[in-house]
Amino acid sequence: MKILKLDAPIGENRLDRSVQGLIGAPLPRTDGVAKVTGGAAYSADHTADAIGYLVTATVAGGWVEAIDIAAALAAPGVLAVLPRQPGLPAALSTQAIVPEPRAVHHVGQLLAMVVATSFEAARHAAGLVTVHYGGDRAGRFDLADVADAAIVPPPFMFGPDQGTGDTGAALAAADVRVAADFTTPAQSHAAIEPHISRAAWEGDRLTIHAGYQMLARGRALLATALGIEAARIRLISTFVGGGFGGKTGMSWESVFAAQASRLLGRSVRVAMTRRQVFGATSRRSDTIQHVELGATRDGRLTGIGHDGIVANLPGDNFWEPTGMGTFDLYAATSRSITHRLAEVDMVRSGMMRAPGEASGMLALECAVDEMAEALDIDPVALRVMNEPDRDPLHGRAFSSRGLVDCLEAGAERFGWKARSPRPLQNRDGGWWTGMGVAAAIRVNIFDSSEARVRLAADGMLMVESDLTDIGTGSYTVLAQVAGELLGLPMARIRVALGDTDLPASAGSGGSYGAASAGSAVLLACEDLIDRIAEQLGVAAADLTFKDGMVIGGNHATPIETLVPLAGHGRVEPGTSNRTISQAAHGAHFAEVAVNAVTGEIRVRRMLGVFAAGRILNARTARSQLVGGMIFGIGAALGEELLVDRSSGRFVNGDLGDYLLPTHADVPDIDVVMLPEHDDHVNPLRAKGIGELGISGAGAAIANAVYNACGVRVRDFPIRLDRLLSGLPEA
Ligand code: MOS
Repeated sequence: MKILKLDAPIGENRLDRSVQGLIGAPLPRTDGVAKVTGGAAYSADHTADAIGYLVTATVAGGWVEAIDIAAALAAPGVLAVLPRQPGLPAALSTQAIVPEPRAVHHVGQLLAMVVATSFEAARHAAGLVTVHYGGDRAGRFDLADVADAAIVPPPFMFGPDQGTGDTGAALAAADVRVAADFTTPAQSHAAIEPHISRAAWEGDRLTIHAGYQMLARGRALLATALGIEAARIRLISTFVGGGFGGKTGMSWESVFAAQASRLLGRSVRVAMTRRQVFGATSRRSDTIQHVELGATRDGRLTGIGHDGIVANLPGDNFWEPTGMGTFDLYAATSRSITHRLAEVDMVRSGMMRAPGEASGMLALECAVDEMAEALDIDPVALRVMNEPDRDPLHGRAFSSRGLVDCLEAGAERFGWKARSPRPLQNRDGGWWTGMGVAAAIRVNIFDSSEARVRLAADGMLMVESDLTDIGTGSYTVLAQVAGELLGLPMARIRVALGDTDLPASAGSGGSYGAASAGSAVLLACEDLIDRIAEQLGVAAADLTFKDGMVIGGNHATPIETLVPLAGHGRVEPGTSNRTISQAAHGAHFAEVAVNAVTGEIRVRRMLGVFAAGRILNARTARSQLVGGMIFGIGAALGEELLVDRSSGRFVNGDLGDYLLPTHADVPDIDVVMLPEHDDHVNPLRAKGIGELGISGAGAAIANAVYNACGVRVRDFPIRLDRLLSGLPEA
């Protein structure tokens, strides 16, 4: 096994001299045909002998006195009714909380599962289960009501208070000061594939088919919940229909499915309904944010304050890190970033695409726009003027930083010069039009991963990792990495993913999946190359791999004649992520039209320019970035998980009422990826991009809305009722 710990600069490696022409190439997904022809087997495509249907809590507090299952058990086709086992955590996540037995924490919490011979029979019988509740069932559902009671939360990734210098003094002494309050709503991941588990036991070994993002971690959590050794569980997620953070950790239906399957001695499958996905998995926290900026008259930021209050269930230590993008986006001699956590009785707040930046940069990047206006400085120029040369919070050097390049290239490409600095200047028929900009930054993360490559006798290369492909292109990019290093065309590579029987990776999440698992693949290939060099008696450095041939020592040897050979690689984070500041960067530009009378907002154009290290596949990378930018349209204009304050139920907890951007809402989106060489992040030199596209995207739209019609809406999403009163003609 070849092992690399990221303690030092990467130095040159084989990927730096592309021979096979695969790295970065905009290749279509290797699993694309299987997906569009129905050949790709998702978890729900695995049949089972029995089908489960989940019973959920209808109250937001108190406890379960009793669950009356007699009527359900007597219903036709019913095989079993499993109440939730007492004492297990309410959420199976990395921050699982261990509550009182039988406690009800929120409406929608899973309480029982009915198992029957058919879906219809299980659903019918689930309606016959009666839950008797005790205790106080009133809940807290509005962050504004409980914000005053918010506490300093324990560290999560970093401490809740971060800062440098005397921000209060800097703000007080500033020539120009902007202070603004923002709110962002709760959101749901609502991936197109609902949470679903199919469980089957063979002796004392359990196999679960379920769509999860991180298998090794998920398996450990499931093992704890079931009280068995992790090694006895095989978790398979061959294809995953979207995750966005909602499929990190484990969800409860997996436990029910495993228990029911063991009880009945047959395979059991259970899928959540869409409403259950909204109510029983996790959500993005709503936030209340206060941003203060101080600047000199000539536009130098001197103080930055960013305070966030977020919500979660009592006892859960996850908090949405709203200030993360504020750590090092702009130079300023002082900054103060705080996070407070308030208790609500709603489904768990967890990680959702770009946790922190997605909601935090809506506030920060709109406040920077307000500062640009107050200073009468162009918002692109203001950002460029305040570019730091070191991470201003920690004083560390940047591994690479393309923010200014992105802003400048974007301004040029978008035609930013045509923007009017003041609002209500551009009219197109009944519409005001305007342009907005925002910076994008997303912390770059890396986590331990292993991978194996094997040359088979038929000349095919097997690439193996438990990394998942959650729609991102993992199958494709790992094949590109291996093909590039070993000089094999894509058709000669098979990638096996999403199975805990394969070498453990960091999984998909935090935008680190491709870089982490891909780096392990790189090391596995180097390990294999060392073995080939040994076999040929040639130094590895003197070997070139191209089109299936191993060239070196005056010979060209077909690689398939060297089998069987295998390579194994492992990468681990080292000191690099503590000594060098690492992030991916970008700039968002948006043009919108606001109807002067109705307030209707249409996004007309969007451009995102990004610098994210080496791009592994220009097509799948672009798809990730476009997807993030569309999330940004949703965050700015539509997405909002609404709770009924009398009951704690989600009013719009389904895809009929929860507003997502549709095709008609999404304009042509232009994406540019600037070349960037990074010698610290990982041996692929690739930074995360999955979450970069959303970071700042909504703020560019909000700033464009202001530039069009002169109304600043600081409570997201920008609904018509929040905009109309400010429109002169409305
Ligand atoms: Mo991500 S929010 O870690 O899928």
